[in-house]
Amino acid sequence: MAKRSFRIAPSILSANFARLGEEVAAVVAAGADMIHFDVMDNHYVPNLTFGPMVCEAIRPLTQSTIDVHLMVKPVDRIIPDFARVGANIISFHPEASEHVDRTIGLIHESGCKAGLVLNPATPLSWLDHVLHKLDLVLVMSVNPGFGGQQFIPHAVEKLREVRSRIDRTGRAILLEVDGGVNAENIASIARAGADTFVAGSAIFGSKDYRAVISKMRDELGSVG
Ligand code: DX5
Ligand code: ZN
Repeated sequence: MAKRSFRIAPSILSANFARLGEEVAAVVAAGADMIHFDVMDNHYVPNLTFGPMVCEAIRPLTQSTIDVHLMVKPVDRIIPDFARVGANIISFHPEASEHVDRTIGLIHESGCKAGLVLNPATPLSWLDHVLHKLDLVLVMSVNPGFGGQQFIPHAVEKLREVRSRIDRTGRAILLEVDGGVNAENIASIARAGADTFVAGSAIFGSKDYRAVISKMRDELGSVG
């Protein structure tokens, strides 16, 4: 069987915001496959970050996929704004949308790929009637709101279950994991079925972004 391909998505939540443009350019140069963009509203999650204007400012700095993770409620109003400024993937939490199927449709109509995000306590039943419409499922391995938290081990079991649901669809749906991912645990997380890895503090907390991303890729190289 062909080796799965893996993507590393640095979360700029852990970047130095005073030098955000340089930080984006640095992780792209260090081998990032995507830029993970954490949008928090101090309502759905207890923290506040950045919105479409900041996304617009970083868009010219990279050809890479911009992977927008919306931790906002409500979600629909802001989706076209992110599409307009060049987001490629937009993911949202089902608890933050009144009509999950409609929100997925809105993301697609806006010209982006759509992802659904499952918090640690969110059941997989949210996928029952929409998985075939999704481009990505994001399994949270921390509770959303902050970088630098510990990976919650139960996420591994959840990833396995989502992996088999995705495989049953026969569609190329990305399985992303977010929270507490580092070079030490990335291989075991990949073995559970994840193919797209968000890492914030593990990358931006290090002095050498290229070295961390390369170490992650080496670890992933050992996974079939
Ligand atoms: C948490 C965010 C994550 C966060 C991950 O709410 O969704 O993307 O930046 O940060 P680390 O990798 O430090 O856990
Ligand atoms: Zn995130």
